[in-house]
Amino acid sequence: MRTDFLPFARPSISEEDIQAVVQTLRSGWITTGSQCAALEGALSARLDGAQVVAAASGTAVMDLVLRALEIGPGDEVITPSMTWVSTVNLITLRGATPVFVDVDRDTMLVTPEAIEAAITDRTRAVIPVHYCGAPCDMHPIRAICQTHGVYCIEDAAHAIGTSYDGVEVGGQGTAIFSLHPIKTITTGEGGLLATDDEDLARRVRRLRFHGLEADAHDRRQHGRTPTAQVREPGLKANLPDMNAVLGLSQLDRLDAFIDRRDALTARYREGLASIDGISPVADPTWTHRHGRHLMIVRVEPSKAGMDRDELMRRLKDANIGTGLHFLAVHTHDWYRDNMAQWSGRLPNTEYNSDRICSLPLFPDMTDEDVDSVLDSIRAALACAKVPA
Ligand SMILES: Cc1ncc(COP(=O)(O)O)c(C=O)c1O
Repeated sequence: MRTDFLPFARPSISEEDIQAVVQTLRSGWITTGSQCAALEGALSARLDGAQVVAAASGTAVMDLVLRALEIGPGDEVITPSMTWVSTVNLITLRGATPVFVDVDRDTMLVTPEAIEAAITDRTRAVIPVHYCGAPCDMHPIRAICQTHGVYCIEDAAHAIGTSYDGVEVGGQGTAIFSLHPIKTITTGEGGLLATDDEDLARRVRRLRFHGLEADAHDRRQHGRTPTAQVREPGLKANLPDMNAVLGLSQLDRLDAFIDRRDALTARYREGLASIDGISPVADPTWTHRHGRHLMIVRVEPSKAGMDRDELMRRLKDANIGTGLHFLAVHTHDWYRDNMAQWSGRLPNTEYNSDRICSLPLFPDMTDEDVDSVLDSIRAALACAKVPA
């Protein structure tokens, strides 16, 4: 058994990252300013000139986008229940109605067919999730959105660096990234909007800072504070430079991080192939580069001899951390109580929600770390199969 604890995620922080943050701390300007603008510019350059706006979290960016699109009471927003609660909470807080679509059982991605079937006269937006770094099938999804005149907001919280049919996510349409510490690159907390919709970007930029036409950066550069006007009531959701500079420093290593995650995933898959009852989430069949944000497996109790919760407990006892991405939103207490109609209507979502578990995956892991996880899974399963 391992003597040290292996967390399921850990940010990869280099000495250059630390020095970049220290330099900003010493610079005399730590809130939103030149470093935030540099992070936005660097991602924009990577995405062939997309409009990029940084904010305090992926959740904050989604909130700003829903506000900018004026989604509210009477509107429906289509999204999977197999997502992080933040998106559905925000739709609900806007007074709009979340409409859940089931996911594909193997890839856990929403399908164009399910989305099309859920569209009504009240649909205003569709939020597909590029789950664990795999892109959804965007050509048909975009075509459906276009035909029905609804906005497509790609939840790319897991998918920075992912590409679909040769185009990096965020390089076309509208996508939202998270920079939370478990994500592929981080700013501590933070989020990014990448869009080809200039009006949306302008409005999100304004809404993230009190609705003022000038943001904190402009105020410093141009000294416009006293006269900057509120164009519409906005939030305070800007990304400070002391956070942004970490993301800027990390962005240089994004491809190396993904390559390492890819190698670790391949090693996991090779080992898991001979473990009955533990199966990784499948990759999509369309052309893509997978972002490899999470290493998710499904635990099949009838074959594994234990359920997901038991496996997670046993791995924890073996000094191995795991995660759960996610318990389906409609199974959370509030949604069960207030949107009970979804129970039983999303079979693939519920199937996965009961079985998934995220194994440790981060670039600084060693191959031996992967082997120790595989060994501990084998040991846990062997134990369960010994007759009492
Ligand atoms: C699918 C998904 N959407 C949105 C978010 C929200 O991102 P953040 O934590 O940066 O607010 C997350 C965060 O984990 C997520 O996993």
